[in-house]
Amino acid sequence: MLLAKLPRRSYTHATTPIEKLTHLSKLLDGPSIYIKRDDLLGLAGGGNKTRKLEYLLADAIRKGADTIVTGGALQSNHCRLTLAAAVKEGLKCHLVLEEGVATPYDPDANGNNLLYKLLGAEFIKVVPYGSDMIADMHALGEELAAAGRKPYVIPIGGSNELGSVGYVACAQEILQQTFETGLVLDDVVVASGSGGTQAGLIVGFHASSAPIKVHGINVSRPNETQIPKITDLVQQTASYLNVADNQLADRVHCYDGYVGEGYTIPTQGMIEAVQMLARTEGILLDSVYTGKVMAGLIDLVRKGAFKKEDNVLFIHTGGSPSLYANPTLFNEDLFVL
Ligand SMILES: Cc1ncc(COP(=O)(O)O)c(C=O)c1O
Repeated sequence: MLLAKLPRRSYTHATTPIEKLTHLSKLLDGPSIYIKRDDLLGLAGGGNKTRKLEYLLADAIRKGADTIVTGGALQSNHCRLTLAAAVKEGLKCHLVLEEGVATPYDPDANGNNLLYKLLGAEFIKVVPYGSDMIADMHALGEELAAAGRKPYVIPIGGSNELGSVGYVACAQEILQQTFETGLVLDDVVVASGSGGTQAGLIVGFHASSAPIKVHGINVSRPNETQIPKITDLVQQTASYLNVADNQLADRVHCYDGYVGEGYTIPTQGMIEAVQMLARTEGILLDSVYTGKVMAGLIDLVRKGAFKKEDNVLFIHTGGSPSLYANPTLFNEDLFVL
């Protein structure tokens, strides 16, 4: 596996920091907890998609695309960042947005929705909850092609084998950083959604024979569907990079106890976790992804899943722009210092 051989655009100027969460670690009285600040990645507002887009946009440009098509939920961080990457590359961008189960599209909504307009999406197609998003995105691509444009369709969350390479590269970055500082990592805790982030980290650590356990905290699906989804993507990514698939499936660990009633639906644990990070460390999480992941990490620590001498790394995958879409969500204090 030689990542330098793959075409890649560069959207961040340095490695993202790994910081110790001193106050949180002391408060929970468990392992030492560290954070990888991927919320500080480049493009508009940062977050995990930036790493995937470095490879996906390079592929789009190599194939002569002039328009990027992608899709996601109404408050999609992936759509915001894909649009920002397209703007940076001088390409147009069309978005397919799926309404929520109880949330119709509001053209004047704040958060990422405001940013789609500010960043100048050329076209936004809104589809009802439960639509076949993949078919809708490809239909849009075909319409563009029929009109003489050169579309490039990026899957939801940027999670195919090429997008996942962004997190294979992140695993290498983490290993280099911990090599330089002497930090011996035991565990990584990360969001498990469309899966490219978790899958890439698993393949990256596996390829370097690093015995670091990656705990994926599900944000939308039960384990019954999430584990096969991650396992497939891990295998596709490994095969794409010629990484030997010896017992890779054994490295897939998912937890579905923190999703609550469903994707985007708030939980008490998420509210406590977002308030805890804000009030102990001055770090903003979000309600859909990192808040639920941190709720999972806090609960695992409280249940004694880690040893006191363990070093655990939480991957901050971004998402704080969506906080502004729901200004009353954190009115109740579930965590007070
Ligand atoms: C802020 C944030 N964190 C985590 C995720 C989940 O990452 P993945 O889709 O790679 O599982 C997303 C996906 O949109 C996200 O926006």
